[in-house]
Amino acid sequence: MTEPALAATAADVSSQRPRVLSGMQPTDALHLGNYLGALRQWVARQDEQDALFCVVDLHALTIPEAVDPAELRHRSRAVAALYFACGLDPERNVVFLQSHVPEHAECSWILTCVTPLGWLYRMTQFKSKAEGRESVGAGLLTYPVLQAADILLYDADEVPVGEDQVQHVELTRDIATRFNRLFGDTFVLPRAVIPGAGARIMGLDDPTEKMSKSVMIERPGHAIGLLDRPEVLKKTIMSAVTDSQREFRFEHASPGVRNLLTILHALSEEPLESIGARFEGRGYGDLKKAVLEAVLERVTPIREHYEALMRDPAELDRILGRGAEAARERAAATLARVKAAVGVGI
Ligand code: AMP
Ligand code: TRP
Repeated sequence: MTEPALAATAADVSSQRPRVLSGMQPTDALHLGNYLGALRQWVARQDEQDALFCVVDLHALTIPEAVDPAELRHRSRAVAALYFACGLDPERNVVFLQSHVPEHAECSWILTCVTPLGWLYRMTQFKSKAEGRESVGAGLLTYPVLQAADILLYDADEVPVGEDQVQHVELTRDIATRFNRLFGDTFVLPRAVIPGAGARIMGLDDPTEKMSKSVMIERPGHAIGLLDRPEVLKKTIMSAVTDSQREFRFEHASPGVRNLLTILHALSEEPLESIGARFEGRGYGDLKKAVLEAVLERVTPIREHYEALMRDPAELDRILGRGAEAARERAAATLARVKAAVGVGI
């Protein structure tokens, strides 16, 4: 007699957990901004949520000049391995490659048809990625519609991302709202969840610019790579741009110094004011050494775990295959709802 009651309780609890979806592009190795802005919160909350995380390999095609097929295949596995190396548990989360679930592309087409062009031209990521390019593929413009499909197919309530993705999640809400108005209630409206500290990590060589994957390859010293060797990390962090003052003054911290403080704060969870008090009047070298130590402590086990996982690509593929199966089951149910709502697929 007690068994059914217990089962009902467990089901109630799981249905109360927020449904979460997020993803990253497999463009290059990940950096500390990806970790602090997104991955860390995915891992920290994995017991409280019903979550899916994908490697968005179809999104990586939006700049086709930058795609080398063999490299893309490698990076897709590598980014999945990094998810796991950072602590994401494939038993508690559904982890998969976007291209393994064809419903994403199909749903994306239907959403493209309800998305006004003006909404897409307004996206700052489109503007910055299109800037200076002679020719831009249509996929770069419709990129956020595919992202909306990623999110809406799983009825996600929450999308944990860094600050730069908030605009895309808001666009997803707008697309869902418009679809629901045109075709009846079909989609859940998601919201972006950004971390309290680390939502926007800046470049170490230029603290006015966001730490980014594309700059990371061109400019050594720009980013703290999660897979960088200790010597490289030391060089990057010790040569981070600060300012011309010799000593640290919390009240007058320049953008470069503030970025270092943010990194230390996000990694150690020590309050900013207390870090400030500890370094007041000391040289910047001391602050940088503390950042280096905190970074090494965090990334060394991640790199070691990553290397171990990459030694067994067949096992990685098995895990991703199971993830794709679980994701497809859910995506197919939503897509059936969407197709019925618009009148295709009879
Ligand atoms: P991307 O590197 O654009 O694929 O981003 C993957 C995830 O990392 C997204 O949730 C971004 O918002 C987040 N992210 C990327 N760069 C940064 C950064 N510099 N600071 C904080 N979060 C970031
Ligand atoms: N556009 C995101 C980025 O550049 C990646 C992404 C694709 C994503 N689909 C997503 C993030 C769905 C969250 C949810 O970081």
